[in-house]
Amino acid sequence: MVHAAAPGPAITIRVMQEGDLTAVAAIEAASFSDAWPRSAFAELMPRGYARLRVAVAANGEVCGYCVMLLAGGEGEIANIATHPAWRGRGVGRALLQESLAAADEALAEAIFLEVRESNAAARALYAAQGFVQVGRRRQYYQQPAEDALVMRRARGASAPSSRSADDHAAPPSRSH
Ligand SMILES: CC(C)(COP(=O)(O)OP(=O)(O)OC[C@H]1O[C@@H](n2cnc3c(N)ncnc32)[C@H](O)[C@@H]1OP(=O)(O)O)[C@@H](O)C(=O)NCCC(=O)NCCS
Repeated sequence: MVHAAAPGPAITIRVMQEGDLTAVAAIEAASFSDAWPRSAFAELMPRGYARLRVAVAANGEVCGYCVMLLAGGEGEIANIATHPAWRGRGVGRALLQESLAAADEALAEAIFLEVRESNAAARALYAAQGFVQVGRRRQYYQQPAEDALVMRRARGASAPSSRSADDHAAPPSRSH
C-alpha cells in the first residue's frame, strides 16, 4: 500500500472492490460529462489486464481512483479522478504514481493516455510525472467536442528538469 504525501490527510491506496463502486460511480459522474457507467468499472475489475485502485481517506471515504490497463508490454491510464472535495491535496498524484510504479515494475515499456486539450489540471499532473505529448486525436471527445492530446511516458521517466536551457549549456572550455 502507498501513503500519499503531505499536504492533506494521509490516504491509502488499495485495490478497488465491489463495495467501492457506488462511491466510484458518484465521483465519475461528478468528474466527466461522458462518465463511465458503474458497470464499466465492475466489468473491468476481474480482468487480468486491468488494474483498478482507489484512494481511501482515514475515515474510509473513497476520494479517488485510477484505472490502468496493462498488456503487450504497454499500458494505458484509462481513467483517473479525484472527488471534487479532495482535489488539490495530492490524491491524483498519489494514485498516478502508484500505478506508474506498478507499470515500471511490470517492465511496461511505455504508458499512454488521452486528455482533453483544455484539461489544464490533468495535463499538469501528467507532465509532472514524465508524460510528454506524442499525438492528437481530432474531435475525439463529445459534450463538448474537443481534441484529445495523446501523451506517453517511457518506462522510468520522471518529470522534465525545470532548469532553463542555459543551465544545460556546456561549461566553459578549460583547454585554454
Ligand atoms: C486531474 C485530477 C485527477 C487531479 O487530481 P488532484 O487530486 O486534484 O491532483 P493533485 O492534488 O494530486 O495534484 C497533482 C498535480 O496536478 C496538477 N494540478 C492539480 N490540480 C490542478 C489545477 N487545478 N490546475 C493546475 N494544475 C493542477 C499539479 O501539477 C499538481 O501538482 P502540484 O500540487 O505540485 O502543483 C482532478 O482534477 C480530477 O479528478 N479532474 C476531473 C477528472 C479528470 O479530468 N481526470 C483526468 C482525465 S484525462
